[in-house]
Amino acid sequence: MTFFTNAAPTGAQPAFGLTQNGRAGMQMLGSIQKFSSTKMREAARTCFDESEAGQALIAEHRQGNAERAAVHDRVKRAKTIAYSDPMFRLERFLQRHVAEENFNRGIPAVEERRAMFTGFIAADREAVGSLELDPAIEAPAYHAQTEWHLEPGGWDGYDLYGPLFAFAVGPHVFRHGGYAAVGAGADITAQRVAAVRQLPRNDYARIYEPGCGGVSTFRAIATVHPEAELAGCDLSPLLLRNGHMLAERQGLKVELKQRDATATGEPDESVDAVVTYALHHELPPKENAALFREMFRIMKPGGDIVLSDPPPFRAVDIFHAVILEWDTDHREEPFFTASCLADWGEELEKAGFTDVEAYAIGPDGYPWITRARKPDAPANRPV
Ligand SMILES: C[S@@+](CC[C@H](N)C(=O)[O-])C[C@H]1O[C@@H](n2cnc3c(N)ncnc32)[C@H](O)[C@@H]1O
Repeated sequence: MTFFTNAAPTGAQPAFGLTQNGRAGMQMLGSIQKFSSTKMREAARTCFDESEAGQALIAEHRQGNAERAAVHDRVKRAKTIAYSDPMFRLERFLQRHVAEENFNRGIPAVEERRAMFTGFIAADREAVGSLELDPAIEAPAYHAQTEWHLEPGGWDGYDLYGPLFAFAVGPHVFRHGGYAAVGAGADITAQRVAAVRQLPRNDYARIYEPGCGGVSTFRAIATVHPEAELAGCDLSPLLLRNGHMLAERQGLKVELKQRDATATGEPDESVDAVVTYALHHELPPKENAALFREMFRIMKPGGDIVLSDPPPFRAVDIFHAVILEWDTDHREEPFFTASCLADWGEELEKAGFTDVEAYAIGPDGYPWITRARKPDAPANRPV
């Protein structure tokens, strides 16, 4: 889900973009997404809320049995009610249509300007940070074989995915919000900054982001913590290359490495804080558990961790839970449901973290924050 929306910030954009034809196609998709996620979704929600079965389920959900199986069962029953409404089905159809057309229209639109975009990506720039790719790293099947968000070929499937998101999908479609957990009209750049602000201190020397993709969240981290050293990893060479290129253009110093976030190769106790953004719903549950153990290992005692991801079903209204669940089967997000049923706080505690808090910092539970602390070394603990 959320990434790359504003990947080409002011000052980093070339004096070109899509052709008028390419832009018009993307703008049409943006309008469809905006209309479906506002007017049509509101009408579908009203229909759900006013139905007798819907009201019974809303009341049951509010009573709040948070046991995983009970929550899942409520979501499945809510789905049946929602799908009985033609408006809901049409709204979902349009969401799927836009998600597919982002690529069906976006790729030809970028291809019309291939020479320019290729030149933009390749242009020389001053070295500020660093990029370490490792061709020996084999991405696990869940990462390599999923066509995430319906992207043909997955994360690394098209050499110009960077420009596609920065110049086509980002500014013309994603900017309206209204997809996956992102609310209609939401500003995802501001959401990233708000999530980073959940780190409780302002004096971290080194901040790490696993699954950093195209560096959008590093930009937010640098805004809030301009003095901190930044380091991160991702499995996708394409995203890392693109992220490195954008970081260098902005003078943003980041150490990027191609690594699995469950085996970063960073030394023990070498980072003061960890931030994750839009990562956990893209990993199977077991991998998340391994990731939390790895973050615990590389963090210094007393360090803080902040996760920002879609909210759990138990924390949103039952109609919204159905909207979130839909991405699992229809927008190529195989772990979305598992992630919305998970309790990241519990998982962090299993890895050794303490002082867990979980809360929303925006409407409809998003962004959903889970933050925790690695306990101080025994010698440093107050007596
Ligand atoms: C939705 S993107 C979010 C990127 C970035 N955090 C941001 O805020 O824009 C999820 C990222 O997680 C990366 N990823 C997924 N599984 C990973 C793993 N096991 N190790 C490292 N990166 C991973 C993907 O390659 C992708 O770049």
